[in-house]
Amino acid sequence: MIHNLNIKDFLQNYWQKKPLLIRSAFPDYISPISAEELAGLACEDFIESRIILEQKSTPKWELENGPFPESRFTSLPKSHWTLLIQGLNKVFPEFDDLLHEFNFIPSWRVDDLMASYAAPDGSVGPHIDQYDVFLLQAKGRRKWMINETPVREDNFEENIPLKIIKEFKSETEWVLEAGDMLYLPANVAHYGIGMEDCMTFSIGFRAPSYAELLSSYVDEHITDLNDNLRYRDPDLLPEQNNGEVTSDVINKIQELLISQFSDKSKIKDWFGRFITEYLNDDENMVENTLSTSEFLSALKETGLLRRPSTVRANYLVNQNNKISLFINGVKQELKPDTDEIVKLFCNQHLNTYADLKSYLDNKNTVDFLCNIYNQGYLEFPDE
Ligand code: SIN
Ligand code: CO
Repeated sequence: MIHNLNIKDFLQNYWQKKPLLIRSAFPDYISPISAEELAGLACEDFIESRIILEQKSTPKWELENGPFPESRFTSLPKSHWTLLIQGLNKVFPEFDDLLHEFNFIPSWRVDDLMASYAAPDGSVGPHIDQYDVFLLQAKGRRKWMINETPVREDNFEENIPLKIIKEFKSETEWVLEAGDMLYLPANVAHYGIGMEDCMTFSIGFRAPSYAELLSSYVDEHITDLNDNLRYRDPDLLPEQNNGEVTSDVINKIQELLISQFSDKSKIKDWFGRFITEYLNDDENMVENTLSTSEFLSALKETGLLRRPSTVRANYLVNQNNKISLFINGVKQELKPDTDEIVKLFCNQHLNTYADLKSYLDNKNTVDFLCNIYNQGYLEFPDE
């Protein structure tokens, strides 16, 4: 549970509206990962890592992309640098529980968990993000400065691969200690400087751009369109100006375009696939598949079933009240009587045997869980 956060008040007054500092959101918070482990991850090629250095010389900000050789960490200066590790929840299942604390926001909006380690005075520079973020102070103290005034396009550093604000004026500032958390809506300028060596976890939210949505939907939709569907004008009248494209034509074109977006069930199917798409799906391959009876025994024995956060699972309710389930970009075939188990699977990342017991008398339900397990979308946590 996040302490000192009234969810109703937060959603009504802060979410996508204004920053909120939550003191002791996670009282006595202890990071499940050490700075050394973070540095170790930065040497691996399966994870995205970056180092940002602040220099006295020009360019003031320098970006290095991982994976790094171990020796890079012994040659770094004592201060003014930071290490960023993206998608930490994908390698440390411990973070799934932390991500789940944000389940008052629909799971499809959650992106991933990024960790930063800062040496004293280390930062990524003043900047804006295009998505909402919760910044949880995991270790040590960091001073956060923010400014809610929109940043002018000409107020960004030039000729560097980072979008850093040239002139940043702090409007409000706080020192965050372990367990404190700062919520920032998209586009609020922020600048967080390590007061000593410290660690911060960013829980980021995805906000698909109009361009992404439109191009994905249209790409998929056009493959279904018959080439015989063509612009027609049997009502053509003699034109005064043969060189003009008339407003009647534009109205027809607009109607034609709009009509391509009128099928809601098509939009649902596409969006379910689009929003659950996960690029490294083969990470979830299972080596030893189980029969339903083996699966049931294992479930009884372990007492816990977990959906890792690398599995993006969402359901949609259709007009006839039937449910569609999408996992990592694929629509799943569903047998009758599986609606409730599908909802539970999508809504809760961790289920105990007791949570599931009442569902297990139904063969289709057990088949569903076993099949999902065999596809690698569920696991017994002790594995
Ligand atoms: C950081 O943790 O240093 C950067 C996080 C952010 O500003 O989004
Ligand atoms: Co940021």
